[in-house]
Amino acid sequence: MDTQVVIIGGGPSGLLLSQLLNRAGIATVILERSTREHVLSRIRAGILEWGSVELLREAGVGARMDAEGFAHDGTWITDADRMVHIDFKALTGKRVMVYGQTEVTQDLYAAQDAMGATILHGVEDVRILDLDGPQAAVEFTLNGEKRRLTCAYVAGCDGFHGVSRRTIPEEKRREFERVYPFGWLGILSRTPPVNDELIYANSPHGFALASMRNANLVRYYVQVPLRDTVEDWSDERFWTEFRRRIPSSAAAKLITGPSIEKSIAPLRSFVSEPLRWGRLFLVGDAAHIVPPTGAKGLNLAASDVFYLHQALTEALKQNSDKGIDAYSDRALRRIWKAMRFSWQMTTMLHRFDGEDSFAAQMRRATLAHLAESETARRDLAENYVGLPY
Ligand code: APR
Ligand code: PHB
Repeated sequence: MDTQVVIIGGGPSGLLLSQLLNRAGIATVILERSTREHVLSRIRAGILEWGSVELLREAGVGARMDAEGFAHDGTWITDADRMVHIDFKALTGKRVMVYGQTEVTQDLYAAQDAMGATILHGVEDVRILDLDGPQAAVEFTLNGEKRRLTCAYVAGCDGFHGVSRRTIPEEKRREFERVYPFGWLGILSRTPPVNDELIYANSPHGFALASMRNANLVRYYVQVPLRDTVEDWSDERFWTEFRRRIPSSAAAKLITGPSIEKSIAPLRSFVSEPLRWGRLFLVGDAAHIVPPTGAKGLNLAASDVFYLHQALTEALKQNSDKGIDAYSDRALRRIWKAMRFSWQMTTMLHRFDGEDSFAAQMRRATLAHLAESETARRDLAENYVGLPY
Protein backbone atom coordinates (compact mmCIF):
# COMPACT_ATOMS: atom_id res chain seq x y z
CA MET A 1 0.00 0.00 0.00
CA ASP A 2 1.16 3.53 -0.80
CA THR A 3 -0.30 5.06 2.37
CA GLN A 4 -2.72 4.07 5.13
CA VAL A 5 -5.43 6.73 4.70
CA VAL A 6 -6.08 8.92 1.65
CA ILE A 7 -7.96 12.06 2.64
CA ILE A 8 -9.90 13.84 -0.10
CA GLY A 9 -10.12 17.57 0.70
CA GLY A 10 -7.78 19.88 2.60
CA GLY A 11 -10.37 22.01 4.41
CA PRO A 12 -10.66 21.96 8.20
CA SER A 13 -12.07 18.38 8.30
CA GLY A 14 -9.33 16.82 6.18
CA LEU A 15 -6.51 18.74 7.86
CA LEU A 16 -7.66 17.98 11.42
CA LEU A 17 -8.17 14.31 10.63
CA SER A 18 -4.73 14.07 9.04
CA GLN A 19 -3.14 15.87 11.98
CA LEU A 20 -4.71 13.52 14.57
CA LEU A 21 -3.89 10.39 12.55
CA ASN A 22 -0.29 11.49 11.95
CA ARG A 23 0.14 12.06 15.66
CA ALA A 24 -1.11 8.50 16.26
CA GLY A 25 1.59 7.24 13.86
CA ILE A 26 -0.75 6.66 10.89
CA ALA A 27 0.38 7.71 7.40
CA THR A 28 -1.93 9.93 5.32
CA VAL A 29 -1.99 11.73 2.00
CA ILE A 30 -4.31 14.74 1.54
CA LEU A 31 -5.59 15.46 -1.99
CA GLU A 32 -6.87 19.03 -2.36
CA ARG A 33 -8.30 20.50 -5.55
CA SER A 34 -7.53 24.17 -4.82
CA THR A 35 -4.44 26.07 -3.80
CA ARG A 36 -3.72 26.69 -0.13
CA GLU A 37 -4.29 30.42 -0.70
CA HIS A 38 -7.76 29.71 -2.05
CA VAL A 39 -8.67 27.46 0.90
CA LEU A 40 -7.48 30.18 3.30
CA SER A 41 -9.38 32.95 1.52
CA ARG A 42 -12.79 31.49 2.41
CA ILE A 43 -14.43 33.37 5.25
CA ARG A 44 -16.55 31.16 7.43
CA ALA A 45 -18.02 31.15 10.92
CA GLY A 46 -16.02 31.88 14.02
CA ILE A 47 -17.45 30.10 17.05
CA LEU A 48 -15.84 26.99 18.54
CA GLU A 49 -17.66 24.73 20.98
CA TRP A 50 -15.52 23.77 23.97
CA GLY A 51 -15.24 20.21 22.64
CA SER A 52 -13.73 21.61 19.43
CA VAL A 53 -11.32 23.74 21.48
CA GLU A 54 -10.18 20.66 23.38
CA LEU A 55 -9.84 18.59 20.22
CA LEU A 56 -7.69 21.27 18.57
CA ARG A 57 -5.48 21.34 21.66
CA GLU A 58 -5.22 17.54 21.58
CA ALA A 59 -4.18 17.81 17.93
CA GLY A 60 -1.35 20.16 18.96
CA VAL A 61 -2.84 23.23 17.28
CA GLY A 62 -4.25 25.08 20.30
CA ALA A 63 -1.47 27.56 21.08
CA ARG A 64 -2.46 30.50 18.86
CA MET A 65 -6.16 29.87 19.49
CA ASP A 66 -5.53 30.05 23.25
CA ALA A 67 -3.45 33.22 22.87
CA GLU A 68 -5.59 35.11 20.36
CA GLY A 69 -9.10 33.65 20.67
CA PHE A 70 -11.75 35.12 22.95
CA ALA A 71 -13.68 32.89 25.35
CA HIS A 72 -17.31 34.01 25.55
CA ASP A 73 -19.46 33.12 28.57
CA GLY A 74 -22.77 33.95 26.92
CA THR A 75 -24.73 35.44 24.03
CA TRP A 76 -27.76 37.66 23.46
CA ILE A 77 -30.97 36.68 21.70
CA THR A 78 -33.16 39.69 20.98
CA ASP A 79 -36.62 40.52 19.65
CA ALA A 80 -36.78 44.19 18.65
CA ASP A 81 -35.83 45.89 21.95
CA ARG A 82 -36.39 42.85 24.14
CA MET A 83 -32.96 41.38 25.01
CA VAL A 84 -32.51 37.90 26.49
CA HIS A 85 -29.12 36.96 27.87
CA ILE A 86 -28.08 33.33 27.61
CA ASP A 87 -25.42 32.82 30.25
CA PHE A 88 -23.62 29.67 29.04
CA LYS A 89 -21.26 29.59 31.98
CA ALA A 90 -23.95 29.80 34.65
CA LEU A 91 -26.35 27.47 32.82
CA THR A 92 -23.94 24.76 31.65
CA GLY A 93 -20.53 25.45 33.22
CA LYS A 94 -19.12 25.75 29.68
CA ARG A 95 -18.20 28.56 27.31
CA VAL A 96 -17.40 28.96 23.62
CA MET A 97 -14.34 30.38 21.85
CA VAL A 98 -14.46 33.15 19.25
CA TYR A 99 -11.73 32.20 16.76
CA GLY A 100 -12.21 32.26 12.99
CA GLN A 101 -12.30 29.11 10.89
CA THR A 102 -9.68 30.68 8.60
CA GLU A 103 -7.31 30.91 11.58
CA VAL A 104 -8.03 27.28 12.55
CA THR A 105 -7.25 26.20 8.98
CA GLN A 106 -4.05 28.25 8.92
CA ASP A 107 -2.89 26.70 12.22
CA LEU A 108 -3.62 23.21 10.87
CA TYR A 109 -1.60 23.84 7.69
CA ALA A 110 1.33 25.12 9.79
CA ALA A 111 1.20 22.06 12.06
CA GLN A 112 0.97 19.68 9.11
CA ASP A 113 3.97 21.39 7.46
CA ALA A 114 5.93 21.05 10.70
CA MET A 115 5.18 17.30 10.75
CA GLY A 116 6.19 16.90 7.12
CA ALA A 117 2.68 15.71 6.16
CA THR A 118 1.88 15.12 2.49
CA ILE A 119 -0.69 17.56 1.07
CA LEU A 120 -1.05 17.59 -2.71
CA HIS A 121 -2.70 20.73 -4.10
CA GLY A 122 -4.21 21.12 -7.56
CA VAL A 123 -5.42 17.51 -7.88
CA GLU A 124 -8.13 16.96 -10.49
CA ASP A 125 -10.47 14.16 -11.58
CA VAL A 126 -10.38 12.29 -8.27
CA ARG A 127 -11.87 8.78 -8.55
CA ILE A 128 -12.32 6.51 -5.53
CA LEU A 129 -12.10 2.79 -6.37
CA ASP A 130 -12.10 -0.74 -4.91
CA LEU A 131 -14.01 0.18 -1.78
CA ASP A 132 -15.19 -3.39 -1.21
CA GLY A 133 -11.84 -5.11 -1.86
CA PRO A 134 -8.87 -5.82 0.42
CA GLN A 135 -7.44 -2.36 -0.31
CA ALA A 136 -8.89 0.83 -1.77
CA ALA A 137 -7.39 2.97 -4.54
CA VAL A 138 -7.69 6.63 -5.47
CA GLU A 139 -6.89 7.84 -8.99
CA PHE A 140 -6.35 11.50 -9.85
CA THR A 141 -4.54 13.88 -12.16
CA LEU A 142 -1.74 16.11 -10.88
CA ASN A 143 0.08 18.56 -13.18
CA GLY A 144 -1.38 16.75 -16.19
CA GLU A 145 -0.09 13.36 -15.01
CA LYS A 146 -2.35 10.43 -14.06
CA ARG A 147 -1.56 9.06 -10.58
CA ARG A 148 -2.86 6.22 -8.41
CA LEU A 149 -2.56 5.64 -4.66
CA THR A 150 -3.54 2.48 -2.82
CA CYS A 151 -4.58 2.65 0.84
CA ALA A 152 -6.50 0.90 3.62
CA TYR A 153 -9.16 3.62 3.98
CA VAL A 154 -10.41 6.75 2.24
CA ALA A 155 -11.78 9.75 4.16
CA GLY A 156 -14.18 11.92 2.15
CA CYS A 157 -13.56 15.42 3.55
CA ASP A 158 -14.27 17.22 0.27
CA GLY A 159 -17.23 19.38 1.25
CA PHE A 160 -20.74 19.58 -0.16
CA HIS A 161 -19.67 19.65 -3.83
CA GLY A 162 -17.01 16.93 -3.55
CA VAL A 163 -16.83 13.50 -5.22
CA SER A 164 -16.81 11.32 -2.12
CA ARG A 165 -20.51 11.36 -1.33
CA ARG A 166 -21.40 10.71 -4.98
CA THR A 167 -19.12 7.66 -4.99
CA ILE A 168 -21.74 5.92 -2.83
CA PRO A 169 -24.34 4.50 -5.27
CA GLU A 170 -27.38 6.73 -5.40
CA GLU A 171 -29.78 3.93 -4.50
CA LYS A 172 -27.78 3.24 -1.33
CA ARG A 173 -27.89 6.86 -0.14
CA ARG A 174 -30.70 8.63 1.68
CA GLU A 175 -30.66 12.38 1.49
CA PHE A 176 -32.63 14.76 3.69
CA GLU A 177 -32.84 18.41 2.79
CA ARG A 178 -34.47 21.69 3.71
CA VAL A 179 -33.67 24.79 1.69
CA TYR A 180 -34.62 28.09 3.37
CA PRO A 181 -36.10 30.92 1.30
CA PHE A 182 -33.41 33.47 2.29
CA GLY A 183 -29.67 33.95 2.59
CA TRP A 184 -27.23 35.78 4.85
CA LEU A 185 -25.40 38.83 3.60
CA GLY A 186 -22.20 39.06 5.64
CA ILE A 187 -19.62 41.82 5.89
CA LEU A 188 -16.23 42.11 7.55
CA SER A 189 -15.31 45.59 8.76
CA ARG A 190 -12.37 46.96 10.74
CA THR A 191 -14.49 48.47 13.49
CA PRO A 192 -14.93 47.66 17.21
CA PRO A 193 -17.74 45.17 18.04
CA VAL A 194 -21.08 46.77 18.89
CA ASN A 195 -21.32 44.51 21.96
CA ASP A 196 -18.89 42.37 23.95
CA GLU A 197 -20.93 39.22 23.19
CA LEU A 198 -22.72 38.10 20.01
CA ILE A 199 -26.25 39.37 19.34
CA TYR A 200 -28.72 37.14 17.46
CA ALA A 201 -31.44 39.63 16.55
CA ASN A 202 -34.98 38.86 15.50
CA SER A 203 -36.88 41.93 14.25
CA PRO A 204 -39.92 42.87 12.17
CA HIS A 205 -37.44 43.60 9.34
CA GLY A 206 -35.80 40.18 9.53
CA PHE A 207 -32.79 38.61 11.23
CA ALA A 208 -29.40 40.17 11.95
CA LEU A 209 -26.31 38.80 13.70
CA ALA A 210 -23.55 40.83 15.31
CA SER A 211 -20.42 38.70 15.54
CA MET A 212 -16.73 39.54 15.71
CA ARG A 213 -13.21 38.30 15.10
CA ASN A 214 -11.26 40.60 17.44
CA ALA A 215 -11.34 44.00 19.18
CA ASN A 216 -11.18 45.81 15.84
CA LEU A 217 -12.75 43.40 13.36
CA VAL A 218 -16.46 42.61 13.16
CA ARG A 219 -18.49 40.08 11.20
CA TYR A 220 -22.08 41.25 10.82
CA TYR A 221 -24.93 39.66 8.90
CA VAL A 222 -28.46 40.48 7.75
CA GLN A 223 -31.04 38.09 6.36
CA VAL A 224 -31.70 38.90 2.65
CA PRO A 225 -34.00 37.50 -0.05
CA LEU A 226 -32.36 34.80 -2.19
CA ARG A 227 -32.72 36.91 -5.34
CA ASP A 228 -30.42 39.64 -3.91
CA THR A 229 -26.78 39.96 -4.99
CA VAL A 230 -23.93 41.81 -3.25
CA GLU A 231 -24.24 44.55 -5.90
CA ASP A 232 -27.68 45.31 -4.46
CA TRP A 233 -26.08 46.08 -1.11
CA SER A 234 -23.93 49.18 -0.81
CA ASP A 235 -22.20 49.56 2.56
CA GLU A 236 -24.60 52.34 3.38
CA ARG A 237 -27.63 50.18 2.71
CA PHE A 238 -26.11 47.40 4.80
CA TRP A 239 -25.52 49.66 7.82
CA THR A 240 -28.99 51.18 7.63
CA GLU A 241 -30.60 47.77 7.56
CA PHE A 242 -28.35 46.26 10.24
CA ARG A 243 -28.96 49.21 12.56
CA ARG A 244 -32.73 48.90 12.42
CA ARG A 245 -32.69 45.16 13.14
CA ILE A 246 -30.58 45.22 16.32
CA PRO A 247 -31.97 46.55 19.64
CA SER A 248 -31.94 50.37 19.80
CA SER A 249 -29.55 50.36 22.79
CA ALA A 250 -27.00 48.52 20.61
CA ALA A 251 -27.78 50.63 17.54
CA ALA A 252 -26.93 53.75 19.55
CA LYS A 253 -23.40 52.38 20.10
CA LEU A 254 -22.85 51.08 16.56
CA ILE A 255 -19.67 52.22 14.87
CA THR A 256 -19.73 51.80 11.10
CA GLY A 257 -16.92 51.74 8.56
CA PRO A 258 -16.11 50.45 5.10
CA SER A 259 -16.64 46.73 4.50
CA ILE A 260 -13.50 44.76 3.57
CA GLU A 261 -15.47 41.69 2.47
CA LYS A 262 -19.07 41.17 1.50
CA SER A 263 -20.76 37.93 0.46
CA ILE A 264 -24.14 36.21 0.40
CA ALA A 265 -24.62 32.60 1.48
CA PRO A 266 -27.87 30.65 1.08
CA LEU A 267 -29.15 28.68 4.07
CA ARG A 268 -29.61 24.94 3.87
CA SER A 269 -30.03 21.88 6.08
CA PHE A 270 -28.78 18.66 4.48
CA VAL A 271 -27.83 15.15 5.62
CA SER A 272 -26.75 12.18 3.54
CA GLU A 273 -26.85 8.70 5.13
CA PRO A 274 -24.93 6.44 5.62
CA LEU A 275 -21.51 7.96 6.34
CA ARG A 276 -19.68 4.74 5.48
CA TRP A 277 -19.45 2.83 2.24
CA GLY A 278 -16.96 -0.07 2.51
CA ARG A 279 -13.55 1.55 2.96
CA LEU A 280 -14.88 5.10 2.47
CA PHE A 281 -16.01 7.40 5.31
CA LEU A 282 -17.71 10.78 4.87
CA VAL A 283 -16.76 13.64 7.19
CA GLY A 284 -17.98 17.25 7.64
CA ASP A 285 -19.66 19.17 4.84
CA ALA A 286 -19.30 16.17 2.49
CA ALA A 287 -22.08 14.55 4.51
CA HIS A 288 -24.06 17.38 6.05
CA ILE A 289 -24.78 21.10 5.91
CA VAL A 290 -26.38 23.21 8.61
CA PRO A 291 -27.68 26.77 8.35
CA PRO A 292 -25.19 29.03 10.20
CA THR A 293 -27.68 30.22 12.83
CA GLY A 294 -26.38 27.83 15.51
CA ALA A 295 -22.69 28.10 14.48
CA LYS A 296 -22.55 24.32 14.17
CA GLY A 297 -20.84 23.74 10.77
CA LEU A 298 -17.21 23.53 11.82
CA ASN A 299 -18.11 22.04 15.18
CA LEU A 300 -19.97 19.12 13.61
CA ALA A 301 -17.01 18.53 11.31
CA ALA A 302 -14.85 18.38 14.45
CA SER A 303 -17.03 15.76 16.15
CA ASP A 304 -17.05 13.61 12.98
CA VAL A 305 -13.25 13.84 12.93
CA PHE A 306 -13.13 12.91 16.61
CA TYR A 307 -15.15 9.71 16.03
CA LEU A 308 -13.34 8.79 12.83
CA HIS A 309 -9.78 9.32 14.04
CA GLN A 310 -10.54 7.07 17.02
CA ALA A 311 -12.11 4.44 14.77
CA LEU A 312 -9.28 4.45 12.22
CA THR A 313 -6.66 4.31 14.96
CA GLU A 314 -8.40 1.24 16.45
CA ALA A 315 -8.59 -0.38 13.01
CA LEU A 316 -5.02 0.32 11.97
CA LYS A 317 -3.23 0.02 15.33
CA GLN A 318 -5.33 -2.48 17.29
CA ASN A 319 -6.78 -4.49 14.44
CA SER A 320 -10.33 -3.86 15.67
CA ASP A 321 -13.20 -2.95 13.31
CA LYS A 322 -15.57 -2.03 16.13
CA GLY A 323 -15.03 1.72 15.77
CA ILE A 324 -15.31 1.85 12.00
CA ASP A 325 -18.43 -0.33 12.09
CA ALA A 326 -20.01 2.09 14.59
CA TYR A 327 -18.78 5.35 12.95
CA SER A 328 -21.80 6.17 10.80
CA ASP A 329 -24.42 5.61 13.51
CA ARG A 330 -22.35 7.27 16.20
CA ALA A 331 -21.65 10.41 14.17
CA LEU A 332 -25.22 10.63 12.82
CA ARG A 333 -26.73 10.58 16.31
CA ARG A 334 -24.89 13.81 17.11
CA ILE A 335 -25.40 15.29 13.62
CA TRP A 336 -29.20 14.97 13.81
CA LYS A 337 -29.32 16.75 17.18
CA ALA A 338 -27.25 19.63 15.80
CA MET A 339 -29.52 19.66 12.70
CA ARG A 340 -32.53 20.06 14.96
CA PHE A 341 -30.90 22.88 16.93
CA SER A 342 -29.76 24.77 13.83
CA TRP A 343 -33.20 24.43 12.24
CA GLN A 344 -34.90 25.57 15.43
CA MET A 345 -32.62 28.62 15.81
CA THR A 346 -33.22 29.47 12.14
CA THR A 347 -36.99 29.16 12.47
CA MET A 348 -37.05 31.09 15.73
CA LEU A 349 -35.11 34.07 14.38
CA HIS A 350 -35.93 34.60 10.66
CA ARG A 351 -38.83 36.19 8.89
CA PHE A 352 -40.18 33.93 6.15
CA ASP A 353 -41.48 35.71 3.02
CA GLY A 354 -45.24 35.50 2.76
CA GLU A 355 -45.63 34.14 6.29
CA ASP A 356 -48.89 34.75 8.12
CA SER A 357 -49.25 36.89 11.23
CA PHE A 358 -49.40 33.72 13.35
CA ALA A 359 -45.78 32.82 12.48
CA ALA A 360 -44.47 36.14 13.77
CA GLN A 361 -46.41 35.66 17.02
CA MET A 362 -44.85 32.20 17.44
CA ARG A 363 -41.37 33.75 17.20
CA ARG A 364 -42.27 36.42 19.73
CA ALA A 365 -43.72 33.82 22.11
CA THR A 366 -40.59 31.67 21.81
CA LEU A 367 -38.47 34.69 22.75
CA ALA A 368 -40.84 35.60 25.61
CA HIS A 369 -40.58 32.05 26.94
CA LEU A 370 -36.77 32.19 26.73
CA ALA A 371 -36.82 35.46 28.69
CA GLU A 372 -38.94 33.98 31.45
CA SER A 373 -37.77 30.38 31.71
CA GLU A 374 -34.35 29.35 32.91
CA THR A 375 -35.13 25.83 31.68
CA ALA A 376 -35.62 27.16 28.14
CA ARG A 377 -32.40 29.16 28.35
CA ARG A 378 -30.49 26.15 29.65
CA ASP A 379 -31.78 24.05 26.75
CA LEU A 380 -30.51 26.62 24.26
CA ALA A 381 -27.20 27.02 26.10
CA GLU A 382 -26.60 23.26 26.29
CA ASN A 383 -27.01 22.93 22.54
CA TYR A 384 -25.05 26.08 21.70
CA VAL A 385 -21.95 25.16 23.74
CA GLY A 386 -22.13 21.71 22.15
CA LEU A 387 -23.63 18.36 23.12
CA PRO A 388 -21.14 15.81 24.45
CA TYR A 389 -19.26 13.60 21.95
N1 APR B 1 -11.03 16.74 -5.02
C1 APR B 1 -10.20 17.28 -4.08
N2 APR B 1 -10.59 18.22 -3.21
C2 APR B 1 -11.85 18.63 -3.27
C3 APR B 1 -12.77 18.12 -4.21
C4 APR B 1 -12.32 17.13 -5.11
N3 APR B 1 -13.14 16.61 -6.02
N4 APR B 1 -13.96 18.72 -4.03
C5 APR B 1 -13.79 19.60 -3.02
N5 APR B 1 -12.53 19.56 -2.56
C6 APR B 1 -11.93 20.35 -1.46
C7 APR B 1 -12.37 21.81 -1.47
O1 APR B 1 -11.54 22.58 -2.33
C8 APR B 1 -12.22 22.19 -0.01
O2 APR B 1 -10.96 22.75 0.27
O3 APR B 1 -12.40 19.86 -0.23
C9 APR B 1 -12.36 20.88 0.75
C10 APR B 1 -13.62 20.83 1.58
O4 APR B 1 -13.54 21.82 2.58
P1 APR B 1 -14.84 22.47 3.26
O5 APR B 1 -15.85 22.74 2.22
O6 APR B 1 -14.35 23.59 4.11
O7 APR B 1 -15.44 21.30 4.17
P2 APR B 1 -14.94 20.71 5.57
O8 APR B 1 -13.47 20.58 5.62
O9 APR B 1 -15.81 19.54 5.85
O10 APR B 1 -15.24 21.88 6.59
C11 APR B 1 -16.41 22.03 7.25
O11 APR B 1 -16.53 24.29 6.53
O12 APR B 1 -18.30 24.89 5.20
C12 APR B 1 -17.75 24.97 6.44
O13 APR B 1 -19.62 25.15 7.87
C13 APR B 1 -18.64 24.32 7.40
O14 APR B 1 -17.34 25.10 9.05
C14 APR B 1 -17.66 23.94 8.38
C15 APR B 1 -16.50 23.47 7.66
C1 PHB C 1 -19.48 34.34 12.51
O1 PHB C 1 -18.77 34.93 13.34
O2 PHB C 1 -19.21 34.38 11.29
C2 PHB C 1 -20.66 33.59 12.99
C3 PHB C 1 -20.93 33.50 14.34
C4 PHB C 1 -22.04 32.82 14.79
C5 PHB C 1 -22.89 32.22 13.88
C6 PHB C 1 -22.62 32.28 12.52
C7 PHB C 1 -21.50 32.97 12.07
O3 PHB C 1 -23.99 31.57 14.32
